[in-house]
Formats: sequence, structure tokens, C-alpha cells
Amino acid sequence: MSEIATQRLNADPEGIARAAQILREGQLVALPTETVYGLGGDATNDRAVARIYEAKGRPSFNPLIVHLADLDAVKRLVVWSDLADTVAAAFWPGPLTLVLPLREGAPVSKLVTAGMDTLAVRMPANPVARALLSEFGGPVAAPSANRSGRISPTRPEHVLESLDGRIAAVLDGGRCDVGLESTILGLAGKPTLLRPGRIGPDELSRALGRPVLERKDRDKISAPGQLASHYAPSARVRLNAAEWLPGDARLGFGATEGDCDLNLSPSGDLVEAAANLFEYLHRLDETGAETIAVMPIPHVGLGVAINDRLSRAAAPRD
Ligand code: TXA
Ligand code: MG
Repeated sequence: MSEIATQRLNADPEGIARAAQILREGQLVALPTETVYGLGGDATNDRAVARIYEAKGRPSFNPLIVHLADLDAVKRLVVWSDLADTVAAAFWPGPLTLVLPLREGAPVSKLVTAGMDTLAVRMPANPVARALLSEFGGPVAAPSANRSGRISPTRPEHVLESLDGRIAAVLDGGRCDVGLESTILGLAGKPTLLRPGRIGPDELSRALGRPVLERKDRDKISAPGQLASHYAPSARVRLNAAEWLPGDARLGFGATEGDCDLNLSPSGDLVEAAANLFEYLHRLDETGAETIAVMPIPHVGLGVAINDRLSRAAAPRD
């Protein structure tokens, strides 16, 4: 693809107006959300969506999440339900994506759903994202703003590291608060957790008043964020490191005996660790280390989502 100059836009009214204009022209803008930066394009425009796949180098069978400013706009695209209403009231705007049946004739490019009859929708809470969505006024398809298979970006610098020259602009909203991609809840059938995230299955079950299935069998999985090797830095990743080896870039958690290079949360706070995870993986990867060794993170609460991302970063690659 040809190189284009990537503009860095401030998150002020002028920058937001420019970003909306770029979306209207069918070009791409990376936008901050509370989870990670998204690579946004007009979801109704086939060429814009094709550009997303091209810029990311993403396999085209992998469907995209559509971001919207308000519920009425969501309901025009998907078949809404009482269950959807209940979780939306509890968690939207926020770091939750819902997969629902696609409404017939819904104005979204077929490339967004990769031919599936369901659509992933999300209403982000980040004020810059909301301002851009309102200003643009239409659905914005946005996967995480990284090259396919690489670490998700939590700062504008991360976006530029992998997409500079491939997208029209990045809207600078500073650092993302949550730091992990949204929880994905499938509501096209029985409520099913398709990707863990900040909002956990217990919270979802409580809000819904019924259990949420956790997808253990991966064979028919419809969320390719579930592909084994994903979120990968260049360095190899060793999990549950009980000791450091020579040459390790050392990523700690909680109280550490010896030194570590970076600590996800010295106090053992999982929310802090999630917010730091991708940024610290980026930083340790930049040192050129061959291996990033990570201390054990407890598999409880948000630790489940953190371990999910880490095990993908550590998975064997082709
Ligand atoms: O936090 C997030 O969700 C970020 C921000 C930018 O919103 N976006 C994000 O997008 O993580 P992406 O494309 O990196 O991950 C989207 C995930 C993929 O695993 C994809 O397979 C799944 O959502 N997905 C999209 N549409 C789906 C559908 N119809 N059914 C099941 N899974 C779907
Ligand atoms: Mg991603």
C-alpha cells in the first residue's frame, strides 16, 4: 500500500471535527477509547472497511466491532432484546461489546461482519470517542489500532509505531484507562462470554439475573481474538516465571524478591496491572530483549482477562 502522512490530531473541537471529516472521506482515524485505541473507519463504507483490513494486515474472516454514540443508533443495526437492554443499562457506555443478530438490511458494510449474521456493537465511555462518534453521526468500525497479531495500543505513540504512514490520523486522547480490550458478551443465543475483560462474568450474571456461559470449547468460537497467537510482542514471552534467567526482560507483579525491570502493580492491584499490561509489554519489547519473563498473576477477577492476553502473547507462533 502507498505511504500516507499520518496526522496527529489534538482532542479539541478542531481535531475532532477534522477526524470526523476524515471518516466521511472514507479514510481511517485511530481514536482513543477507555479500553485501547481503535482503528476507526466508516462502517457503512466498503472501501473504508477494506482499508482497515489492509492497514492492519488482518485476515478478512475476522469481523469488526461497530462503535456507536447512542442506543437508538445501536437498535437500527441489531435485533435488540430485553437481555441486551438489561446489560446495556448496567454497563453502557463502557468497556463491554455485545454480539447480537444483525438486523436485515442494516446499513453496515458486509466486510464488517465478514459475512456473519451477527454484529458486535459497543458504546464506549471515553469522552473523546463519544465526541467523535457524535460529530461523525454514523457507525464506526474499529478493531484495536495495531498490526494484526501484535500488542494492542494504549497510547497514541503505540499506534504510530505500527501504523504510521498507513492511516490518515491519530486522535490524541492520551493513555487508555482500562488498558485491555472490551469484554465481549454473545447475546445471539444463550448469554456467552466470548472474550474476558474488565467487566467479569459474575458481574454480567448478576445484572442479567442468569448465568453467563464461559466458552471453554474453542472449536466453534466466533471471536477470532480467540486465535491462539495474538497480542504478541517480538520477544518470546515466558509466563509464571518463578525465577529470572540471564537476558530476560523482567516483568513483575506484586511484591518481588529480586529486581524486575517493570512491575505491573507493586501493590498487587489487578486493575492497575491491566492498565499497565500492554504499555509495559511494548516498553520491554523495545529493549530488544529476546524473552520477556512475567511473574505469576493470580487467576481471579480481572486476573483472568490479564492471563488470557498473556497466554496469547506467549503462544507458539507460525
Ligand atoms: O476494546 C475493544 O473492544 C477494542 C476497542 C477499539 O473498541 N476493539 C477491539 O477490536 O478489541 P478487535 O477487532 O481487536 O477485536 C474484536 C473482537 C475479535 O476477536 C472479533 O473476532 C470479535 O471481536 N467479533 C467481532 N464481531 C463478532 C461477531 N459478530 N461475533 C463474534 N465475535 C465478534
Ligand atoms: Mg485486537
